[in-house]
Amino acid sequence: MTETRLLKKALRSVVAGQVRAAADPYRPGWHLAPPVGLLNDPNGFIQHNGRFHLFYQWNPLACAHGAKFWGHWSSADLLHWQHEPVALVPSEEFETHGCYSGSAVTDNGQLTLIYTGNVKYPDGSRTAFQCLARENAEGQFDKAGPVFNLPQGYTGHVRDPKVWWHDKHWYMVLGAQDLSLKGKVLLLRSDNLLAWDLLGEIAGSGLYGLGEFGYMWECPDLFPLAGHDVLICCPQGLAAGSDRYLNTFQAGYFVGQLDYDKATFAHGDFAELDLGFEFYAPQTTLTDDGRRLLIGWMGIPDGDEFYQPTIQNGWLHTLTCPRELTLVAGKIIQQPARELQQLRRNVQEWQGVADNAPSPDITKAETEIVTEHAFCADFGGDMTLSRDGECLRLTRKNRRTGLPEHRVWRGRLRKLTVLSDASSLEIFINDGEAVMSSRYFPVLPAQLNLRGSHQITLRHWSLAECVIE
Ligand code: FRU
Repeated sequence: MTETRLLKKALRSVVAGQVRAAADPYRPGWHLAPPVGLLNDPNGFIQHNGRFHLFYQWNPLACAHGAKFWGHWSSADLLHWQHEPVALVPSEEFETHGCYSGSAVTDNGQLTLIYTGNVKYPDGSRTAFQCLARENAEGQFDKAGPVFNLPQGYTGHVRDPKVWWHDKHWYMVLGAQDLSLKGKVLLLRSDNLLAWDLLGEIAGSGLYGLGEFGYMWECPDLFPLAGHDVLICCPQGLAAGSDRYLNTFQAGYFVGQLDYDKATFAHGDFAELDLGFEFYAPQTTLTDDGRRLLIGWMGIPDGDEFYQPTIQNGWLHTLTCPRELTLVAGKIIQQPARELQQLRRNVQEWQGVADNAPSPDITKAETEIVTEHAFCADFGGDMTLSRDGECLRLTRKNRRTGLPEHRVWRGRLRKLTVLSDASSLEIFINDGEAVMSSRYFPVLPAQLNLRGSHQITLRHWSLAECVIE
C-alpha cells in the first residue's frame, strides 16, 4: 500500500481512538504508551543534538502484531515527551510486512535510522533487508532502501540492527537464525553505513561454550561498560527452569570482550535482565553526560498479551521507565534514571511493624520498603510480593488461565524500590541488583497493603504525571 494510504488509515485510527485510549484509567501517567493500537519494541533510542529521540514498533491500526510502523517521540529531559511525525511506514516492497526494529545514529550531524524491512511470502517463508532512512529538514525520514540483504547461511530471520561507531568504523550487530535453526548474533562493519561487510558470528547457540541456546536471537545490543563489553540479546526457545526463563521469551546479557578485528566475543554466562512477567527487547543508548540508559518493552510477544484489559479501550502495552546501567562485579545494576526523581511529590515516611503500616495510594508512586525480614505486599489486589527467607516471590493470576503464576528472585533482600504507574510495577531489588517489571490491573486507586510481624521502614512519594505534552 502507498505511504499516503497507510498514513491516512493510521490517522483515522488515531483520531477515532485517542480520546477513549487517553481516558482509560489504566493509562500510564509517566510511562510511554501508544496513542492507539499496539506498541512493542523501543527503537532508535538516541540523544541527538542534545535532545532524546525514542522510536517504537507500532501497529496503529489494531491491538495486534502485523506490519509495524515506527512511531516517534522526542524529549529534552526523559520526562516530558512530545509526539513527532510517524517516522517509518511499511510502504515499500522491501518492507511489505513491517518496518521492524532497529537503531539510530548521528551520521555527519544527520539523524539516521537503520531498521529491518520484513517481507513475508504467501508460502509462509520470509526474507529481511537491513534498511537506512535519513532525517530531512522537515523532520521526516527519507528512505535510502536496503543496505544489507539476507546473508547466505541464514533463514529469513535476520533482523534488529543495532549500529554504533568505534575506532573509525561503523559496526552493526544483527539477530539471526542459521540454517540449522540456531539463534546467532552477527557482527558487521561499514565505512559509510551504506555498504556492509559481514565479519562473523560473535555469539549464539552452540558458540563459546553455550550448548543449545535457542532457535532465534532477537534485538541484540552491544556496548562498552566499565572496561568490558556487554551484549544484550533476546534468545527465543530456552527451556524454562524452576526459577529462570519463566517468560515465553527471555531478555538478558553476556559480559565479555569483543575483538573487533577477529570478530570474536569471549564471554561469561547468560543472565536475565529482568525477572518480572513483562519485559523484552530492551535497547540502550549513551547519553551526552556518559550514562548508559536502557528502555525496554513492558510486554512479551505471546498469546497472553491479548488478555490485557486495555485492549477494550483500543491500546496495548507500554515501555519501561528509562534505567541507568552500571556494571558491578560482572553484573548489570539497573537504577531508575535520576531524572525520574523530579516527579516525586509529598514524601511520607513510616517505621513500625508491617501489619500496622499505612496503605498508601500507589496508583502513580514510588515506594521504598526497607527490611531484612519476612513480609507480604499486596499491590491493589492484583499482584503480591512475598519474602520468605532468601526467596522473593511475585504472584498474580494468569489473565488467560486464571491460575496463579510466580516469578522468583533469590538473595539477601535489604531494600525494594517499587515504581508504579496505573497498570505497571517495576520493582528494583537492593538498588538495582535485580528488577521485576510487570503489568498489573489493580482496583483503582491502587493501594499497597503490607502484612508481617516484623519491622519495616516505608518511604512513599506520589509521582507527578508528565509523559506527553
Ligand atoms: C521483538 C521483535 C523483533 C522485530 C519486532 C517486530 O519483539 O519480534 O525481533 O523486529 O519485534 O515488531
